[in-house]
Amino acid sequence: MCGIVGVLGKSEVAPLIVDSLKRLEYRGYDSAGVATLDQGKLVRRRAEGKLRNLETLLENAPLAGSAGIGHTRWATHGAPTVPNAHPHLAGRVAVVHNGIIENYLELREEIVAAGAILESETDIEPVAHLVNLALDRGKTPREAIAEVLPRLKGAFALAFLFEGEDDLLIGARKGSPLAVGHGDGEMFLGSDAIALSPFTDRITYLEEGDWTVVSRTGVEIFDKDNRPVERAEARSSVTSSLMDKGNYKHFMAKEIHEQPQVLGHTLSRYFDYTTKTARVAGAEGLKFKDLQRLTITACGTAYLAGLVSKYWFEKYARLPVEIDIASEFRYRETPLSEKDTALFISQSGETADTLASLRYCKAHGAAIGAIVNVAESTIAREADMVFQTIAGPEIGVASTKAFTCQLAVLAALALQAGRERGVLSAERERELVAELIEVPSLALQALSCEASIEKLAQPLSKASNALYLGRATNFPLALEGALKLKELSYIHAEGYAAGELKHGPIALIDENMPVFVIAPHDAIYEKTVSNMQEVAARGGRIVLITDARGAAESGSSAVSTVILPDMSDIVAPIVYALPVQLIAYHTAVFMGTDVDQPRNLAKSVTVE
Ligand code: M6R
Repeated sequence: MCGIVGVLGKSEVAPLIVDSLKRLEYRGYDSAGVATLDQGKLVRRRAEGKLRNLETLLENAPLAGSAGIGHTRWATHGAPTVPNAHPHLAGRVAVVHNGIIENYLELREEIVAAGAILESETDIEPVAHLVNLALDRGKTPREAIAEVLPRLKGAFALAFLFEGEDDLLIGARKGSPLAVGHGDGEMFLGSDAIALSPFTDRITYLEEGDWTVVSRTGVEIFDKDNRPVERAEARSSVTSSLMDKGNYKHFMAKEIHEQPQVLGHTLSRYFDYTTKTARVAGAEGLKFKDLQRLTITACGTAYLAGLVSKYWFEKYARLPVEIDIASEFRYRETPLSEKDTALFISQSGETADTLASLRYCKAHGAAIGAIVNVAESTIAREADMVFQTIAGPEIGVASTKAFTCQLAVLAALALQAGRERGVLSAERERELVAELIEVPSLALQALSCEASIEKLAQPLSKASNALYLGRATNFPLALEGALKLKELSYIHAEGYAAGELKHGPIALIDENMPVFVIAPHDAIYEKTVSNMQEVAARGGRIVLITDARGAAESGSSAVSTVILPDMSDIVAPIVYALPVQLIAYHTAVFMGTDVDQPRNLAKSVTVE
């Protein structure tokens, strides 16, 4: 999950590296560091916590040098302390790493036995020592790297800098992404196009197992068997401007409020507003017509978007969906063949478990579709068909607008599948599309409940636990509400299918338990109301999120009610996501937690 960068520049590179790390902070913010070559000698600065701490350190003690590497960390091995912060040094070698070296204990033992003294608990410091030991034995830097790389098990993107080698960076990738940026008399390495965006739009993505020797005048790339290979140079369209919060206090607030607009952009990409039909370019590759089942895989909030769509694919397209979280799917050894279609959902397009699941399905011959927000991400590049969410950059760690835009794309795919399979009539499709194209305006109206939601934050902040309940497509939304509250406010929360409550979790209900019930007035509303009565009878503090009719028919069991406009079933999980996001947001703001960068998290989870 960490972000790495390397620069062979024309003048001092430390400020450039920090600029790049700002864009990489979405990968982790436990610590950050920079190493440069000052007159051929390795020097470094490292700081615990957010990048601004490193910036302050560098203001007080700048680093000279026109060659350097940098790192922003999401801690895996070892606490987020300065000794564990990257870059790690060993003799003449400095290294930054994204990934996990699985055989690090064995490597540690080996280099300790060889007399090395380790400063950190990390999995990468032994690798720096191994390379340094090879240099001590007379190997050149490239020979040393070629010797050490095959010994590393696990996933890595690495950038090495060598003492006395002012015109050399060596990078390597296996499992974690790494790209080379081409400049004019300067060259770069970075975790992704975003890292390289301040420097260049000319990018070469390394492929699995590749390693590269970079100088200011060129780049050599080798495959895992050390054979020289050519990798194409591409033009990146990633913008170099740093996103700003506009008039909002947090990126998350901005992103919640952007939803009416970005949902409009996404819906208009996938629906024809004139004919009121789903028109998803490339969907023919998903083979909906004769498909026996659709496999959907994702993580976190993206998984919950997939779970909503299971209801849609099964109801509107009569297409059975098998859905799993990627960290489970990837090791489940699911039988798949070329008759299958697998759909992956990811905002970042870099989530390690989702990517590994994609590769599993691809290797078994399935057609691969991906719903991603970041167009140049690894998942987008490896999928057969890409359906981009037009959410724009999502900076807040909590996924908000990406989630609702994923739902918009999934709704289009479900309706298209229904039509192609001959189970959704033209008339019903027109009705559903007419409802869906109202989403931006309904989302805007939903945001007007913000003031009433803000009032819920104070009582909720006192709770240690919370429950979210919903049925059908509102069940995944209940899971999403609980996930959001946990990640932002650190209050323990669970989402349950309302009907499942009496099978165990009802034992938790007492007067200290806030219970959020997500229940538009739909065909199963009365069932949810019965579950609500069961909670009220046991003293639970119910917050009901519903529409005017639902509020009128809820009895007196809710202590608070959030009222949304009337809307149809297919639209509800998209629009009801907004109050669910606002509840978590305002609670976190009230509690003073770090809304955009909650503790222990990273925006993009690039380790398993
Ligand atoms: O980038 P991805 O959509 O693949 O990320 C998946 C999850 O890590 C992500 O949705 C996570 O659960 C969010 N922080 C939740 O708000």
